[in-house]
Amino acid sequence: MTTHRHICPSLLSADFSRLAEEIAMMEAAGAEILHLDIMDGHFVPNLTFGPFIVKAIRKLTKCRLEAHLMMTNPGEYLYQFREAGADTILIHVETCPDIQNDLVKIRELGAKAGVVINPETNAEMLGDLLPYLDQVLFMSVHPGFGGQKFIPEVLSKIKLWEPELHRHGVIIEIDGGVNSVTIPQIVPTGVDHFVAGSAVFKAENPTAAFKNLQSFVR
Ligand code: DX5
Ligand code: ZN
Repeated sequence: MTTHRHICPSLLSADFSRLAEEIAMMEAAGAEILHLDIMDGHFVPNLTFGPFIVKAIRKLTKCRLEAHLMMTNPGEYLYQFREAGADTILIHVETCPDIQNDLVKIRELGAKAGVVINPETNAEMLGDLLPYLDQVLFMSVHPGFGGQKFIPEVLSKIKLWEPELHRHGVIIEIDGGVNSVTIPQIVPTGVDHFVAGSAVFKAENPTAAFKNLQSFVR
């Protein structure tokens, strides 16, 4: 990877009837990481796709694939998502009874391991998990849907944890409501990866929108 800061397009807002073109367009624009939102209709009120589609996406791109698992029992599916081609697997702290064990499993499968923290969830558990983490994803919307309004309160949580996370080499990511209006306030907090769905794919010119967001972080 060329720099440590990345805009990660979320395919949730892509046109799945033209998925290959959408992905090729992002790759040509310079994307190195694609964000895949896996929703089970239970942990979140929306349903998307599972390992079967991840496997198809894997064939379409050389980008790193990160699977954001918004599901009740992610521990039972880690092997399937890794086998399908996910390079990073992100699991929610709110739904994992033994998250440390699941993080260990993800690394044993050869993927990067990360946790996701909802806006209203206290981040205290991060202290104990540091040795098991490659990445932490702070949600800046309530998970489940693209196109929601950014919740700025998450920024103070990120600022609080940034020194310790970076000291341990943990990548900090933000997801939800990232666009050209909100990104200038996010950059100074030290975030490394910026997930962007609707701001990219719903734009009139997704390539230009991606490059514009990228210009804030490079
Ligand atoms: C929401 C997902 C996000 C979503 C972000 O639950 O985790 O990745 O795609 O979409 P935007 O960028 O439109 O807020
Ligand atoms: Zn996501």
